[in-house]
Amino acid sequence: MGDRLLEGRHILLGVTGGVAAYKAVALASRLTQAGAVVDVVLSAAAMRFVTPLSFESVTRRRAHYDMFALPADTSPQVCPGDLLIAHIALARSADLMIIAPATANTLAKLAHGIADNLLTAVALAVTVPLVIAPAMESHMWEHPATQSNLAALRARGVVQVGPATGHLASGASGVGRMSEPEEIIAAARMVLACNGDLAGRRVVVSAGGTREAIDPVRFIGNRSSGKMGYALANAARDRGAQVVLVTAPTALPDPYGVQLVRAESASEMRDAVLAALEGADALVMAAAVADYRPVQVSAQKIKKTEENLMLELTRTPDILGEVAGLRAAGRGPRVVVGFAAETADLLANAQAKLRQKRLDLIVANDVSAPDAGFGVDTNRVTLLWADGSVEPLPLMTKEELAHVIWDRVQCLWA
Ligand code: PMT
Repeated sequence: MGDRLLEGRHILLGVTGGVAAYKAVALASRLTQAGAVVDVVLSAAAMRFVTPLSFESVTRRRAHYDMFALPADTSPQVCPGDLLIAHIALARSADLMIIAPATANTLAKLAHGIADNLLTAVALAVTVPLVIAPAMESHMWEHPATQSNLAALRARGVVQVGPATGHLASGASGVGRMSEPEEIIAAARMVLACNGDLAGRRVVVSAGGTREAIDPVRFIGNRSSGKMGYALANAARDRGAQVVLVTAPTALPDPYGVQLVRAESASEMRDAVLAALEGADALVMAAAVADYRPVQVSAQKIKKTEENLMLELTRTPDILGEVAGLRAAGRGPRVVVGFAAETADLLANAQAKLRQKRLDLIVANDVSAPDAGFGVDTNRVTLLWADGSVEPLPLMTKEELAHVIWDRVQCLWA
């Protein structure tokens, strides 16, 4: 499946000689599956561990290792008529270069501008960001020479991922394992996102369903999985925004590159959202926040009896209501977007919330539909604007909807 951030991006993947080179095949494969055009450059030592064919099989492009080869006609990034040697041709149209694994030897060459093989020559010729994933034995990692080479590379803007601590090829355990492909891709995405259309913006997103304690083991909750809010946070991050995600408990993995603030109850979410709003350009409240909580929270587990149990409930803070108050006082974010989860009279109820909470936009969500709302990966919503405009949207994934919402937030900022 394509990926909005990686789709069509030309990524150079340098692979140097370490046992972790086998993980670079998985990395090349994942980048290709995400829609990136991946050109792999191997050092001679890397080819002792993996073959060019391994990479060619997953990228469906020729892998490169010969410094003096002329570009083959399989390299569409080379302009017809150009007679460029390989390192210049490869460097020319790249959006990003990743070196994974990066050995101590290659790091030393990179730090000192040595270009004695195709990979280091390409690294010297590229003008795009470089992400490195070091992998080596612990003592080599800790050696002052390696550390000073890394410091020099970081000072030049090279982005370092890892290494992780764990089992090493030497049989010992320690620091030096190459980071997993997912972590390297996450770093690559962060670098590519820097020029996104939300770069320079700070946004706050809420996600998940709050829990209101009844006793130490029970709570009042709802069916929110957090998927919609996490999709909004991920999409904003991929477009270059600085994102604070205030999340109620969910089963979703922590998103990378996002400041995660956990909040369990409506009251905790209120405090976290208001604290995060300092300097924020937008707030998007996708969280399903409880409207009521028990008046009394039992300190001990409530015992079963023959009698009915009555719970007295009281209102929780209306977070968006408080944000409206802030904005009326000239504080708070420029743009505030709410969601309305409805099972009946969708548009009328959403309109009322848009007005009461003085929102710029509300995302009206018919949560009775099986393919929309709570838990599922898709959503079908109608956007209601403060000026009265109504914009019905077709069924789409929550990721796609997240991007549409940020597109609309962009209009509101304009
Ligand atoms: O998490 P998923 O499984 O992906 O599901 C997504 C979703 C259905 C939770 C999401 O799309 C959604 O509709 N979220 C809003 C749910 C909700 O609480 O709606 P509401 O109509 O009760 O609240 C209206 C708005 O006021 C919401 O933006 C809500 O965050 C906010 N609110 C609610 C109560 C409260 N005390 N303070 C608030 O700020």
